[in-house]
Amino acid sequence: MRIQGYPNPGEGLRLHLNENTGGCSPRVIEAIERLTTADIATYPEYTEVVLASARLFGVDPEWVLLTNGLDEGILMAAIGHIARLRIHDAETIVPLPAFDPYPNSTAAAGATSVRVRPDPSLAFPTDRVIEAITPRTRMIFLNTPNNPTGQLIAIDDLKRIATAAPHAIVFVDEAYIEFGGQSFIPELPSFPNVLIGRTFSKAYGLAGMRIGVVIGQPAALDPVRAVTLPFNINGVALAALKAAIADTEFLPRYAAQVRESREHLYAACRRLGLQFWESAANYVLVRVGEAEPYLAALAERRIHVRDRSKDDITPGCLRITTGMLDHTNRAIEALESVHATRTSR
Ligand SMILES: Cc1ncc(COP(=O)(O)O)c(C=O)c1O
Repeated sequence: MRIQGYPNPGEGLRLHLNENTGGCSPRVIEAIERLTTADIATYPEYTEVVLASARLFGVDPEWVLLTNGLDEGILMAAIGHIARLRIHDAETIVPLPAFDPYPNSTAAAGATSVRVRPDPSLAFPTDRVIEAITPRTRMIFLNTPNNPTGQLIAIDDLKRIATAAPHAIVFVDEAYIEFGGQSFIPELPSFPNVLIGRTFSKAYGLAGMRIGVVIGQPAALDPVRAVTLPFNINGVALAALKAAIADTEFLPRYAAQVRESREHLYAACRRLGLQFWESAANYVLVRVGEAEPYLAALAERRIHVRDRSKDDITPGCLRITTGMLDHTNRAIEALESVHATRTSR
């Protein structure tokens, strides 16, 4: 039997999907409680929320397309720029390690993913991405900070890639940019072939509402708009988004917790002699080596993390969400317990 949805790890502390471990702004809940029966009975009205989103990102409202999670934005970009044009032999470039929807959406659009491996240090392979560009390249999926490594792509490297592929769409996925690094949005006016993906799932704590956004000049965005269904975001989600954007204190407060959490986890890794990658996002990739004892200690405390140990790009690694400090400290305590058992043997 196949049941729809992502596997549910059960009760416990969710540090496996990079959600906001502190929840969303209370103003979001108040806004949802204020909804009326008429709000639910009528088709949703987008204008006000699109204008508020455009103000938030500092762009023209015509450059903004709200999507049902950034997942939908990625899929619609591939459909709009590849499947809709019935291009045969189309390729996308997918630097590894990559978020699954890039190859999946490529396949859904009937194209082939050309994968590019990172440096052994997991640094972003700019030159090799540029070398992989061919006349068949229709899209290049770039993720900064990268999930799962937390590594950034320098703005100059993004520019070099976008300049080297004027015939392709460069999709810059900035799902975690609120936690570190610089957005490419201010550069957009000079790059008509770039689309930026953002999400309200992470920093704003709205993963359950499913709201993402694709931002770009009309030349790049209109083909995506053309295949996106007109009522793709529901009215409850739109009310939630409006309230989340209006609460300007929420995000800086949570981002500060994330930064402190990351530092705590780095310090713990140093104490325990575990390799880790300094991250610009709300998670840290930690190389524990043999993952099982760590996963067992975490599971015993009902803490769910992402096991990346079987991936040949991230062997022996776990990805741990660093959200509220208390939550991160619980994960650190579990990592320390494994170390204590080993050294007492
Ligand atoms: C790199 C990256 N892009 C996009 C998304 C999708 O976010 P959304 O919840 O908006 O679909 C995620 C979610 O995990 C992600 O890690």
